Amino acid sequence: MKANELILILDFGGQYNQLIARRVRECNVYSEVVPYDITLDKIKEKNPKGIIFTGGPASVYGEDSPKCANGIFELGIPVLGICYGMQLMTYTLGGNVARAEKREYGTIPVNIENSSLLFKEFDNENNFLMSHTDFVETVPEGFKRIGYTSSCPNAAMENVEKKLYGIQFHPEVNNSVNGIKVIKNFLYNICGCVGDWKMSSFVDDSIQMLKEKIGNKKALCALSGGVDSSVAAVLLNKAIGQNLICIFVDHGLLRKNEGDEVEQVFRNQFNINLIRVNAKDRFLSKLAGVSDPETKRKIIGEEFIRVFEEEAKKIGSVDYLVQGTIYPDVIESGLGKGAVIKSHHNVGALPDYVDFKEIIEPLRNLFKDEVRKTGLELGIPENLVYRQPFPGPGLAIRIIGDITDEKLEILKNADSIFREEIANAGLHKNINQYFAVLTNLKSVGVMGDERTYDYTIALRAVETTDFMTGVWSKIPYEILEKVSSRIVNEVTHVNRVVYDITSKPPATIEWE
Ligand code: XMP
Repeated sequence: MKANELILILDFGGQYNQLIARRVRECNVYSEVVPYDITLDKIKEKNPKGIIFTGGPASVYGEDSPKCANGIFELGIPVLGICYGMQLMTYTLGGNVARAEKREYGTIPVNIENSSLLFKEFDNENNFLMSHTDFVETVPEGFKRIGYTSSCPNAAMENVEKKLYGIQFHPEVNNSVNGIKVIKNFLYNICGCVGDWKMSSFVDDSIQMLKEKIGNKKALCALSGGVDSSVAAVLLNKAIGQNLICIFVDHGLLRKNEGDEVEQVFRNQFNINLIRVNAKDRFLSKLAGVSDPETKRKIIGEEFIRVFEEEAKKIGSVDYLVQGTIYPDVIESGLGKGAVIKSHHNVGALPDYVDFKEIIEPLRNLFKDEVRKTGLELGIPENLVYRQPFPGPGLAIRIIGDITDEKLEILKNADSIFREEIANAGLHKNINQYFAVLTNLKSVGVMGDERTYDYTIALRAVETTDFMTGVWSKIPYEILEKVSSRIVNEVTHVNRVVYDITSKPPATIEWE
C-alpha cells in the first residue's frame, strides 16, 4: 500500500480519535493514529503532509497532562489542533488557556472568518459541536482569531505563515454540519494534499507487495466466512494463488446453510485452496451439559485452536500465517481499559500452536468500511461483504443454557425465517444486527386442541454504528406478526415468540 501522502494524528486520548482518522481517509488522504509523544525523529521519518492533534480529557495545566515533542511546531509541517490540541498549541507557544466556570457543550453557532483557508467557501455562521471547559483566552503571538462563539472568545485561530491552526470545536462528528469541509480545507488548502488514497490502488499495491514478499512460499489462513478473514484470504489468493491454504473450521454453530455458502464462494468462485473441517460433533460433545456462557466461549475458543492445529500439522511447516487484523484492533490493542464483559473469541491465540515463521496482516491499516470496499473491489459478493457481524462462538451464545443438536436445529430454522422476512421487507439495510435466540424457557401453549409445552424464541434486532451502544429496532408490527406466526407454524417445539425491546446499555446485543 503506497499512499504517498500521510497525515499523522497525534492521539491525546479524546473519544473521537478514530473518527478523525476515518474522516481524513474519507477525503482520500491516508492517515495514521500515533501516540501523542511521538518523537521528532519519528515524525521526520514518516514525513507527513500534515499533523492533527486530537482532543483529550486533560487540562494543559494538569500535572501529568499529555504534551507533544518540543519543536514540533517548528518543523514547517502544518498542524491542526482540535480542542485539547488547540489548547496545547496555545500553551506551548505562549498564549493563555483559562478554565471556564461552566462547560460549553452542544452544537453551537460559531462565527467564523471565512477569509481563512480553513473556512474557505463557508458562510459566516456555522454550527459545530463544542465540548470543553478550558478555552483559549489569548492566542499566542503571531496568531489571529478566526472564530468565536457567544461564550468562547477564541473558537478558532491561525498562524498562516507557520501553517498552524487551532479549533475548539469537533469537525469530525456528524453533528458538526460542514465539519468534513473544515478537514478537507486543512488537507487540500493548507497541507497541499492531492488525495491519493483510493481502495483500488490499495488492492493493486497490496497484491504486488504480497507477491514480492511471499514469492513461492506458503501461507496459511483461518477462514471463518466473516468479512475480515474473507477479504484477507481473497487478497492473498490473488497474490499467491494455490500457495495460500485456507482452513475453514466449521464448528457446526453457524447459521442455517452458512457453512455450505462459505465453501461455495471460496472454493467455486475464487478457486481457493480450501480445507473445510466439519467438526460439529467434536464441538457439541465438548459443549454437552455446559450452560455457563463464559465456559461455553472458552471451550469453543480452545477447541477451535485444537482443530486448526491438527489440520495445520497435516500441512506441515508454512512460512506465513495470515490474519484478518484491522486498524481499530491495532489502535485499541494494549490499552486494556475497562472490565471484561464478555471474552471475545477470535483467532488471535493461534500463533502459539502453529509452525510458521511470520504473521501477515494485510488489512492492518484499514478501517471496517475500507475492508468492505476492498472486498467489493476484489469481487466478493455483496451479501458477504455487508453481512452482519456474527460472533466467533456462533449460535452457542444464542442458545441459553446447554446446547443440543435439537436446540441447534430449532434455532437455525427460527433464525432463518426471521432473516428472510427482514430481507423481504427491505429492512436489512437499516438494522445492523438481527437474529433469533433460543431461550431456555418452556411455556404452555395450545395448538389445535392440544396442550403444548415448548420453547420460547426471542427476536433481537438493533440499530447501531459502533456496536458499543445501540437501540432496539422499531420493526413494524405486521412484520413481527408474520415472523412470529411463521416460526410457531414452521418450527417444531416452539410455541411462543417474544421481541427484545432493550437497548445497549443496559443490555448487550447478544444474550450471552
Ligand atoms: P455484545 O453482545 O457484547 O456484542 O453487545 C457486541 C458485538 O460483538 C459481537 N460479539 C462477538 N464477536 N466474538 C466475536 O467475534 C465474540 O465472542 C462475540 N461476542 C459478541 C456481537 O455479535 C455484537 O456484534
